[in-house]
Amino acid sequence: MKAFLAALALVSAQIAAAHYTLPDLIANGTTFADWVYVRTTQNHYSNAPITDVNSTEFRCYELDMNATPGETQIATVEAGSTIGFKAVRSLSQSSPVDNTFYHPGYFSAYMSPASPAANSPEAGTGQSWFKIWEDPPVFENGQLVFPSTSISEITFTIPKSLPSGQYLIALHVASSVGGAQFYIGCAQLNVINGGDGKPEPLVSIPGVYTGYEPGILINIYDLPANYPGYTSPGPAVWQG
Ligand SMILES: *[C@@H]1O[C@H](CO)[C@@H](O)[C@H](O)[C@H]1NC(C)=O
Ligand SMILES: *[C@@H]1O[C@H](CO)[C@@H](O)[C@H](O)[C@H]1NC(C)=O
Repeated sequence: MKAFLAALALVSAQIAAAHYTLPDLIANGTTFADWVYVRTTQNHYSNAPITDVNSTEFRCYELDMNATPGETQIATVEAGSTIGFKAVRSLSQSSPVDNTFYHPGYFSAYMSPASPAANSPEAGTGQSWFKIWEDPPVFENGQLVFPSTSISEITFTIPKSLPSGQYLIALHVASSVGGAQFYIGCAQLNVINGGDGKPEPLVSIPGVYTGYEPGILINIYDLPANYPGYTSPGPAVWQG
């Protein structure tokens, strides 16, 4: 009985430690400070996931949907350049600090033109979002093999043909443990030297997920019989 309780405590400690935020934008090869270009999220202290895919907060999970955009700076980045996000875990954890994603998850990045500006609350409120990148698990030897969770940074490319202008970029990480648990960060961008591409398909956030997609509502440790392989939730990636 004692051993059982000890094991239980260990599991819950790991789950608590696995919570994180995505406060740091990576651009031009530099990792910028917490919440400079990324809108401060409601979980900036608790690091807890957001679970309601239909909440208006599911878009960027701002601390204050009206005030936070204006308190966040806009990063200028070139179309075709590499950008990314760095995860940060609870500040209260013991050293050495471990900022890895830890939990298996499906990673995706969405962008939306930002009108009237990237630092305005109205930006990204319509059917204006398109997916520019994803990192889904692969199905191998009867198991889902997830993108590495021992990293703390993920990077991807802003499509070269994306028209210049102001955008929001949202990184969504759907954790496959405990159903629909999402970690979200939104950075404010001014894209320069863009092209004349036409991003599609366009979706609304919230609205992009119901929460019942086979890629979200999934028990990765108990896959159904005749599992067909992972199906990414949401739209296809715009190839730019
Ligand atoms: C990134 O580099 C571009 C020039 O290539 C520059 O205009 C921009 O200000 C830089 N962005 C940041 C966030 O430092
Ligand atoms: C989210 O909203 C959609 C559309 O109204 C609905 O079908 C779905 O059941 C909702 N999901 C949850 C988890 O409530």
